[in-house]
Amino acid sequence: MKTVLVTGANKGIGFGIAKHLGLSGWRVIIGARHQERAEKAIEALKDAGINVLGWVNIELTSAECLEQAAQEIAEKYPELTLLVNNAGIPGDMSVNAQQTELKDIKETLEVNFIGTFTLTQLLMSVLEKNNGRIVNVTVPSEISPYWHPLAYVTSKAAQNAMMGVMAMEFQQKGRTLETFSVHPGPTTTDLNGNMSLPGFHDIETVGAKFAELINDGKTHQGEFIELYPIVKED
Ligand SMILES: NC(=O)c1ccc[n+]([C@@H]2O[C@H](COP(=O)([O-])OP(=O)(O)OC[C@H]3O[C@@H](n4cnc5c(N)ncnc54)[C@H](OP(=O)(O)O)[C@@H]3O)[C@@H](O)[C@H]2O)c1
Repeated sequence: MKTVLVTGANKGIGFGIAKHLGLSGWRVIIGARHQERAEKAIEALKDAGINVLGWVNIELTSAECLEQAAQEIAEKYPELTLLVNNAGIPGDMSVNAQQTELKDIKETLEVNFIGTFTLTQLLMSVLEKNNGRIVNVTVPSEISPYWHPLAYVTSKAAQNAMMGVMAMEFQQKGRTLETFSVHPGPTTTDLNGNMSLPGFHDIETVGAKFAELINDGKTHQGEFIELYPIVKED
């Protein structure tokens, strides 16, 4: 039986991923930053028959919190085999590049890249002992003509670069670690005000497709995998 930690698993895509990995036999650890939200998600997952081991407090803007989380995981869940870096924020998606405030770029980078990098770095030794995987939930680095909020796209490009560099190093050094990135495609969640346009999917559909990918028995080192592409909104 394999064990996964999903960050930002209390709602949205992270919840869908936790649920469908759980339904396919994974033991699930919820990464969340509020006890009440974590417990609500755990109750819903348990009702769906998922084997939830517990929750870990993961606030990506706090280095101290991430260090504590990594220590807790090393002690309580040394069998961890998969880290899903899902937690993320949108930044201000309503402004163009010229209007974007530096504060917004810094805040978005802090969560989507710096916090995600720090947690990944801290969990690498536990994961490596278990031939583990690190999977990032992201968007393509290529600029879409249809949708390109600067703070968000910049932070995800940094996260994608992290994946590419780590995958290269794991391969070159023959380490027992794998990393790849997954673009879920437009998904109806709080992140986009629960938008539901043509081309959008719900968290159940995305979670199920994500679990299918994770369980496909193949190696995906360094890959960028699109579950659903971004399409032009009519
Ligand atoms: N929705 C889409 O169309 C779409 C498309 C491509 C990629 N993605 C990516 O998918 C991932 C999940 O997004 P979503 O759409 O499911 O968004 P969501 O419903 O807003 O969920 C975001 C999750 O991240 C957590 N989070 C936010 N800031 C955090 C922080 N500082 N520290 C720790 N956790 C934090 C949230 O926790 P709280 O509940 O406590 O705020 C929540 O659990 C993100 O990385 C996003 O970029 C989304």
